[in-house]
Amino acid sequence: MKSRAAFRDEFPVAGRRTYLISASLGPLSRRSRLLAEEHLDLWEKLGPEELWFDHGFPRLERCRSSFARLIGAGPNEVAIIPSVSAGLSSIASCLDFGPRPKVVLSAMDFPTNHHVWLAQRRRGARLDVAPTSDGIGVEAGEITGRIDGSTAIVNLNRVLYESSWIMDTPPIVEAAHRHGAFVVLDDFHGTGIVPIDVHRLEVDFLLSGALKWLCGGQGIAFLYVREGLIESLEPAVVGWFGTRDPFGFGRSELELRLDARRFETGTYALPQAWTASGGLELILEAGVESIRAHSQSLTAEVIRRADTLGLEVLSPLAAERRGGLVRLRVPGGRAGAQRILHALLERDVVLDARGDALRISPHFFNDDTDIDRCFTELRKLL
Ligand SMILES: Cc1ncc(COP(=O)(O)O)c(C=O)c1O
Repeated sequence: MKSRAAFRDEFPVAGRRTYLISASLGPLSRRSRLLAEEHLDLWEKLGPEELWFDHGFPRLERCRSSFARLIGAGPNEVAIIPSVSAGLSSIASCLDFGPRPKVVLSAMDFPTNHHVWLAQRRRGARLDVAPTSDGIGVEAGEITGRIDGSTAIVNLNRVLYESSWIMDTPPIVEAAHRHGAFVVLDDFHGTGIVPIDVHRLEVDFLLSGALKWLCGGQGIAFLYVREGLIESLEPAVVGWFGTRDPFGFGRSELELRLDARRFETGTYALPQAWTASGGLELILEAGVESIRAHSQSLTAEVIRRADTLGLEVLSPLAAERRGGLVRLRVPGGRAGAQRILHALLERDVVLDARGDALRISPHFFNDDTDIDRCFTELRKLL
């Protein structure tokens, strides 16, 4: 097992800047850079037959099986998709809103979730949005109370992107299944930073991507579909890579694969499979349980330091409810947050902001020196 210092050394940016923005974009590792270069070398030398079949597709399979391991799934339950939005649209295309028009969401989901379901209104979907009382979390009861026999699906974000509140998922899954509804978990803010076992949680679908906590770059996202469900689902968003014999080039039948890959559509962002596999494998080597423990200690330190500056914490204070980031309200509203953000950037402290608050998202390569540097600079700007 590599030491913390060795993991830190994998990310050159950590030596140059105080990089506390993995919730937005995980940084490039030395490993992923080498792999990207390997891809370019192969592309320069080889034609598509060898590049794709001997190297690209096997690399994609490494991404698939690494992701499956991270969430406790089998590789046959995982489709590789271009984005979470695309995967969610594919799921939506399977549903018949005639008998079950209701889609239950929360007021704090990432907006793309709402956009996808809003677009389904023309197919008969009716959105029922559970509110938040404090702008930090959404109580499970607000969601379970909306689920009934007319519910087609419950759209949940396991870890809320603004506050990092961890949803109490099990009672929601239980209520959904009791009423015959599906549950889709958008886990973009969870996978790689808060452990999960999809089989134990019994969700029907999970979506996530390589870009953030998995440090794998853009263009590769994942859709988990529970094995017992796959064959009964007929997506209306399809393509040749979701069929049983894409290279048979048949056009008269639509014979979808029998595994989750029926949700795959057109040509993959194969170059990204090299970078993504590097990030995913580093996360697996570090281990999500261990990443979680380290993350909890760093975010606790962020909260302690915020307290000393009198900044309001807009994330759960209880460690078990808090995901990988801490959101802090800063003076001056949205403009104040932007001013501080840019001044920090000039000092090589990289964070992001949502509204009037900063988001600080340390990862496994960060340590207390990063939190210290962030707050030393932040103190000067308040
Ligand atoms: C929770 C969550 N879901 C979905 C997305 C968007 O995913 P994509 O751009 O892959 O569709 C984001 C992006 O930040 C997110 O935080």
